[in-house]
Amino acid sequence: MRYPPQILEEIRARLPVSAVVGKRVRLKKAGREWKGLSPFNAEKTPSFYVNDQKQFYHCFSSGKHGDIFTFVMETEGLSFPEAVERLAAEAGVALPTLSHEDREQEVKRKTLYDVMDMAAAFFRASLEGRAGAKARDYLAGRSLSPETQGRFGIGYAPPDRYALRDHLAGKGVSLEMMDEAGLLTSSEGENVLRDRFRDRVMFPICDVRGRVVAFGGRAMSADVPAKYLNSPDTPLFNKGRLLYNYHLARKPAHDRGTVIAVEGYVDVISLSVVGIHNAVAPLGTALTEDQLTLLWRMADEPILCFDGDKAGRRAAFRALDVALPHLTPGKSLRFAMLPEGQDPDDLARSGGASAVERVLSSAKPLVDVLWARELEAGPLDTPEKRAALEHRLRESLALIRDETLKRYYREEVQARIAAQNPDPRGTRFNRREGGGKRDRWGPSPTTPSARLSVSPLLAQSRLFTGGAAESPREAMILCAFLAHPELLQRHAETLVELELEGRGAQALRSLLLDSAASGEPADLPVMQARQERAGLTLAAEKLNALVRAGDRWMLDPHADPLRLEDALRQAITLHRRARTLHSELRAAERALAEEDNEANLAWIREVQNQLSSVEGAEADLDNGVVHREH
Ligand code: UTP
Ligand code: MN
Repeated sequence: MRYPPQILEEIRARLPVSAVVGKRVRLKKAGREWKGLSPFNAEKTPSFYVNDQKQFYHCFSSGKHGDIFTFVMETEGLSFPEAVERLAAEAGVALPTLSHEDREQEVKRKTLYDVMDMAAAFFRASLEGRAGAKARDYLAGRSLSPETQGRFGIGYAPPDRYALRDHLAGKGVSLEMMDEAGLLTSSEGENVLRDRFRDRVMFPICDVRGRVVAFGGRAMSADVPAKYLNSPDTPLFNKGRLLYNYHLARKPAHDRGTVIAVEGYVDVISLSVVGIHNAVAPLGTALTEDQLTLLWRMADEPILCFDGDKAGRRAAFRALDVALPHLTPGKSLRFAMLPEGQDPDDLARSGGASAVERVLSSAKPLVDVLWARELEAGPLDTPEKRAALEHRLRESLALIRDETLKRYYREEVQARIAAQNPDPRGTRFNRREGGGKRDRWGPSPTTPSARLSVSPLLAQSRLFTGGAAESPREAMILCAFLAHPELLQRHAETLVELELEGRGAQALRSLLLDSAASGEPADLPVMQARQERAGLTLAAEKLNALVRAGDRWMLDPHADPLRLEDALRQAITLHRRARTLHSELRAAERALAEEDNEANLAWIREVQNQLSSVEGAEADLDNGVVHREH
């Protein structure tokens, strides 16, 4: 609704800016104004001014400027109506009464909120009750403690068709209300409404004020069609307009001056478990414009942290296009890409906060990602291809609305294109000359040293992953061999054939095989000495850090040999299967890129399903181990 300007004036008149700002910033009188440390930037000398007469504040360090409403919007992440509501209450100004329809809508929404609350309470109680044992095990297997479960309101929807429906009916909630709240569904061909969420771990999704407005339900086994099932859009919930965990992340994001967007709910939660509380996630769709706006309300340069897989890269590229028109000198994005096959949840659990911080601190600026995306299209070995690259980049840059920024982006991109040119001095005859001659002119312009003018291949691996491309499973297999060199006697053949992604893993494999071939006794001290000599100690440590918590027992020199071989064999089988599926997925993606039709889409889905069941099998393995250790 629109507020009449007189009302806003009235609120401004009653609340001096210094009073509103003074709750967050320690202000000192400076002549007619007030002065303090900027709440927007970390600074040592005050550059933030408040003028009560003019009813505004001005921040010289960030260039931000505004009135009491923008101040609470900026510092608390409130929307405009929320800010008005809050400050009107503080000022004792009555807001205009709602129209009859507005009021009816309000009443209805209010009751819907109550229904959602009841549902959330029911799911929580089910998790704690007898029916929740399996879900509790599942959560324990994912290292989500009861304390964490409580903090995020995690619950469990029992398998019965009418569990929630009956429960709510018993509390006097009508079927219409339950349906409107998105809690029910009907199977095809039936018109009986039953519970939408059954036998799933339930993650409540809250609005910006922390009220439950939807749920995300995770299946616990891999053979269920949808891993996550989310509430449909309802009068309370629009999936493109909210971010998971926004209400809890808002303050930590302001305090740290940055916010992290990850892909999944569990990623958000695992980050918070290791003390990183400023993370949010979209709700099962690609990042929307509205969600970007929310992110920019929390920080000027949100970090998008996507999974280290093809889908994650695509998500990053898509987000980039959504962001381009809205970039301003003060609002941008950074992109952190995780090692291949890892998501923030994996990383937080295997490497803790420091591993995550490392990835975040190497986040790339937007221009790098824009550039990398275009380079990936293929080699630039002909003038046509370079021209095409330039065209595509121009088209992207045309999306930037801010003229100054656009100009700088153009300059930057031009410089990079120039650096790409294999023949910068215009004498095309020296092009294929040997490296010796080129060395005298400095590095070839096509080597990575020329800024980011990397080869497409490098752009795919190194640029985003910083070279560590091993998956936790790959790491586990290698580390098991390193910890138990005696395994080589019988499994060297298998190791030779293993397709490995990471350089570190490949180098360590060579070392293992060399050692097996040398006939030296294959014991631990010998292995360690070899590692040191080959300069691979660090690589081995890195790999070690990637091994999932549930697999760590395998690294114990005293691990039960039978159990060890069993686990190793299973891991290798899954690894092979996953590799095959990954290449099939790439083929399917290429096919879809060439021809966007249902059949190709179905192909991708099918492969993805299979992949997720392979990953699921691994998760099950993890859980099994956790149990046995308990
Ligand atoms: P991912 O498949 O990356 O799952 O989906 P994840 O977060 O790693 O989940 P875990 O760790 O296996 O539990 C990322 C997000 O995409 C949405 C969900 O919001 C999920 O958190 N999603 C995924 C769906 O909505 N439906 C799905 O079937 C899968
Ligand atoms: Mn995950």
